[in-house]
Amino acid sequence: MISEEIKKRVEALRRAINYHNYRYYVLDSPEISDEEFDALMLELQRLEEQYPELVTPDSPTQRVGGAPAEKFHKVRHPVSMLSLQDVFDQAELRAWRDRVFKLLTPDEIASLRYVVEPKIDGLTVVLHYEHGLFTLGATRGDGAVGEDITTNLRTVKALPLRIPVQDRGETAPARLVVRGEAYISIEDFRRLNEEQEAKGLKTFANPRNAAAGSLRQLDPRITAQRPISLWTYQAVLVDGKNIHTQWEALEYLRRLGFPVNPLNRLFDDFDEMASYCVSWESEKENLPYEADGLVIKINDFGIQQKLGSVGKAPRWAVAYKYRSQEAITKLLDIRVNVGRTGVLTPYAVLEPVQIGGVTVSKATLHNYDYIREKDIRIGDLVVVMRAGEVIPQVVRPVKEARTGEEKIFTMPDRCPICGEPVVHPEGEVAYYCVNAACPAQLARGIEHFASRDAMDIAGLGEKQAHLFVELGLANDIADLYYLRPEHLLSLEGYGEKRVQNLLSAIEASKDRPLWRLVNGLGIKFVGAEVARILAERYRSVDALMKAPREELEEIPGIGPRIATSVVEWFKHETNRRVIQKLRAAGVRMSEEQAPEEVEEKKPLEGLTFVITGTLPGASRQEAKEMIQRYGGKVTDSVSRRTSYLVVGESPGSKLEKARKLGVHTISFDDLRRMVRGGK
Ligand code: IVH
Repeated sequence: MISEEIKKRVEALRRAINYHNYRYYVLDSPEISDEEFDALMLELQRLEEQYPELVTPDSPTQRVGGAPAEKFHKVRHPVSMLSLQDVFDQAELRAWRDRVFKLLTPDEIASLRYVVEPKIDGLTVVLHYEHGLFTLGATRGDGAVGEDITTNLRTVKALPLRIPVQDRGETAPARLVVRGEAYISIEDFRRLNEEQEAKGLKTFANPRNAAAGSLRQLDPRITAQRPISLWTYQAVLVDGKNIHTQWEALEYLRRLGFPVNPLNRLFDDFDEMASYCVSWESEKENLPYEADGLVIKINDFGIQQKLGSVGKAPRWAVAYKYRSQEAITKLLDIRVNVGRTGVLTPYAVLEPVQIGGVTVSKATLHNYDYIREKDIRIGDLVVVMRAGEVIPQVVRPVKEARTGEEKIFTMPDRCPICGEPVVHPEGEVAYYCVNAACPAQLARGIEHFASRDAMDIAGLGEKQAHLFVELGLANDIADLYYLRPEHLLSLEGYGEKRVQNLLSAIEASKDRPLWRLVNGLGIKFVGAEVARILAERYRSVDALMKAPREELEEIPGIGPRIATSVVEWFKHETNRRVIQKLRAAGVRMSEEQAPEEVEEKKPLEGLTFVITGTLPGASRQEAKEMIQRYGGKVTDSVSRRTSYLVVGESPGSKLEKARKLGVHTISFDDLRRMVRGGK
C-alpha cells in the first residue's frame, strides 16, 4: 500500500514540473533556476523508481522512453493537409485579395478580417489528444498520410503530454487534433552544430534540417537531446466546442496551454495588413528563430468554407514570402578555424557582397566533406545564401564560370595555429589538432569552461579567454582560479570594478553543481547532457576518474565512444594536473551533500539577513534560498534585529539605514565563506 502522502507528493511534483515547464518552454519566462527544476525532477524520478505503480504515461519523467524504432509507421490524417500558395510582393497580394473579393458578397467583404502569423520554417506536426492525453503525433508526409513520430515528439518539452488547461473556464475536449510547427531556434541550432562538430559528426545546413533530422531519428534518446521548440497554429478537430474564427482558435489553444506564437496579429483592414507584411521583412531578421515569411488567413471559418480550395491550396490563405537572400561572389580563399576540441573547420573568405542589406565577407563551408561533395574551389564564383540570422553559407560553385585557374583545396596537415600535425580519425568527418596545449584550443576551452552551460562565469567570454591565453595568464582552465587583481589591473580597460566583478564571478563558480564542471572540462563527446548523466551516476570527480570503461559503456546514453573518450581524458597526466589544481583552488568536486547532511550543518542558524543591490553571480532568489538552506532568515527591511546586510552592486537606501543602526554589512563572497564554515 502506498500512503496517501506519497501519492499527493507525486501529484504535487508533477503539477509543479508541468507548471515550470510551461513557464520555461511556452511562456519563455521561468520562475525557478535550472538546478531547482532538476531537483524537482530528481525527487519525482526517485519516487517513481520506488513506487513504479505510480508511473503514468503523462508523467514528466516519461518523455524519453522506448527503444529505437525499426521504422516509422504510416498514419492517415483525419483531415488532409493543404499547402499554401505563395505571394512575393504587394501586387501579388492584391491579386489574391481581388480573387477572394470576386467570390464574396459586399457584406462579407465588409466583414473580412485577416489573421497574420509568422511562417515558421520547421517541420509540420499533427498532434492528437484524447481526453487531454497526448496519444499520437505525426509528420505532414504527403498531406494525406504522414509518419508516426509520437515517441520522438514526447521528448519535446513545449509539447504538453497532458493538456495543461491554463484557463479555469476551459476543460480539455474529448478529442483534439492540433497542427503546429516544430523548430529549432537559431541559437540552439548554432550550439547543436558546435556540439556535432565537437563530436566529429555531420553538422546541419540550417535550423529546418536540424529540426526535421532530429524528429525523424529512429532513436528517441537522440531526439530527446535536441533543443526542439514548437508553435501550434491550427485546431483541426475539437470535440464539443464551436469555434468560428481562426483568432478564436488561436486564443483557445493558448487558454488550453499550448504554445501559440505571441507575434500572431489580427487585422480589420487589408491595407494595414499589407503594410505590416512589408515591415515584417526587416523585423524577421531579429527573431530568435527562422521564419520564411508570413501566413495570411481569412479569419472567419464560414467564409473560409465558402471560398474552398483550388487544387491542394486553399483560397482563404496565402504565404507572404520574401525573395531568397542569395548573391554570387568570388571565393578568395578557404581558411581554417580551430575549435575548442581541436576540430578544424574550413570557412570561406569572400569578395564582400551585399545580401539583403548586409555586407557578407565570410561564410561557412561546414566541413571538408561538404567542400569535396560540392567541388568548391578557391577562385570559384560561388552562390552565397543568407538564411535569416544564421551565418551565411556557400551553397555551390558556379562551375560554368570556371577559368581553369581555380585551385582545389585540401585540409592542411598541420594546425594553422600551433603547427602540430593534424589527425583525421577513421570514419569521422572532422579533422583534429590533438595538441592539448594549442593556444587556439586552450582559449576556446576556457571560453567553453566559462560558458552558460558550464561554469557560467559572467564577463568571461571569447575575448577575455584569448587575452588571458595570449598573456600567459591562463595555461589551462584551472589557472582562472589563480588570477589575482594585480594580474588584471594593468590591462587596458580593466578598471577596479570590472576586475572585482570578474574575480567575484570566478569565485562564485567554485560552487556550481558537478555536471557543470564535468561539462566544462571539455572532454570530447561530453556535452551538457552527457555531463548530467555522468554527474548523476558518479556524484564526484574522484569516482568518475576511477570509473572503468566497461562500466561507463553500460550507462544509458553513454556508449563506447563516450566511455573511451572519458577514460582517455582522465588518463592524461596534463588533465590530472588540471583536476588537482581545480581541487586545490576550492572548486567543488562532488554533488552537493544529501539534504539531511546539510540540515545538520546550519552555520547561519539564528541569524537574520537583508539583501541589497545586485549580487555577483547569483540572483536575489538564489541568495535567499542559500541563506535559508543553511538555517538563516531573510527579511525585506533593515532593523536593529538584522544580523547582516548583504551588499551587492548599486545598493539601495538599506545600506544607509544599516549604517545608521550599526548593522554589519558583508559582501556576497563573505556570505559564501560563512556557509562554507568560515574558510
Ligand atoms: S497554415 C492551409 N500557419 O507552412 C493552411 N502553416 O505550406 C496550411 N507553416 O508546411 C498551413 N507556419 O506547416 C500555417 N502559422 C502557420 C504556419 C504554417 C508554418 C508551414 C506549414 C506548411 C507550410 C504551408
